Amino acid sequence: MSVETAAELAGLRAAGYAVAKTLEMMRAYAKAGMSTLELDEYGRGILDSFGAQSAPYHDYGFPGCTCISVNEEVCHGIPSATKVLREGDLVNIDVSAVLNGYYGDNGGSFILGEDRQELQQLVQASEDILRLAIGQVRHRLQISELGGFIEKEAKARGFRVIRNLCGHGIGRRLHEDPQEIPCFRDRYNRDRLQKGHVIALETFISTRARMAEETNDGWTMTARGGGFVAQHEHTLIVTDAAPIVLTAANGIAYQ
Ligand code: CO
Ligand code: CO
Repeated sequence: MSVETAAELAGLRAAGYAVAKTLEMMRAYAKAGMSTLELDEYGRGILDSFGAQSAPYHDYGFPGCTCISVNEEVCHGIPSATKVLREGDLVNIDVSAVLNGYYGDNGGSFILGEDRQELQQLVQASEDILRLAIGQVRHRLQISELGGFIEKEAKARGFRVIRNLCGHGIGRRLHEDPQEIPCFRDRYNRDRLQKGHVIALETFISTRARMAEETNDGWTMTARGGGFVAQHEHTLIVTDAAPIVLTAANGIAYQ
């Protein structure tokens, strides 16, 4: 959607805050020995307290409230009572929700507990590249240029990007136009960001794979050929100057 009114801006801010706070609290709550279902139920309680509903459930019938993807899983991991978190796991939590008709989407990867040097670098690269990419976002920027920037930054750190997972427009639904904001320069995509556009910008930074593929459960994506992937995501509004980051409740300053 494109933001036209103060009421729309307020609605988007409220939705963005709800998902950001939920992600932040889930991340702090995650512990070794906890199942991903338990972590998801905790997140559901927080979204409930805001009056927000899980967007993947609402829009797509996802069998969970938030997406929790562990280790070889890249995204859309289904919360499960039998999937138990362990020290050193690479965990991705992606929280998207609808509140009063407005959507917010916020995700991040982290290492649980003990430090694993090689994975820490991947996670740090994804987080840094998202922050740098947000710094590029402005009115009239070509989406292919933004993708090229993300890919260049990934390469400079010795990583690759996943080509078939991407950011997207958001606002009145979880996925809106522009449908695809890839992490590489797609020269067939001539679209430009416009002032007022609400977008979810996502990095998918990979140690090896260039593609993700769906597993047998019909939801979870893993990296084709193996390796690890880290993702970070913020919802923002494009302006003439620096974008408005709607999901910055996790204390990261972008402006
Ligand atoms: Co997301
Ligand atoms: Co998203």
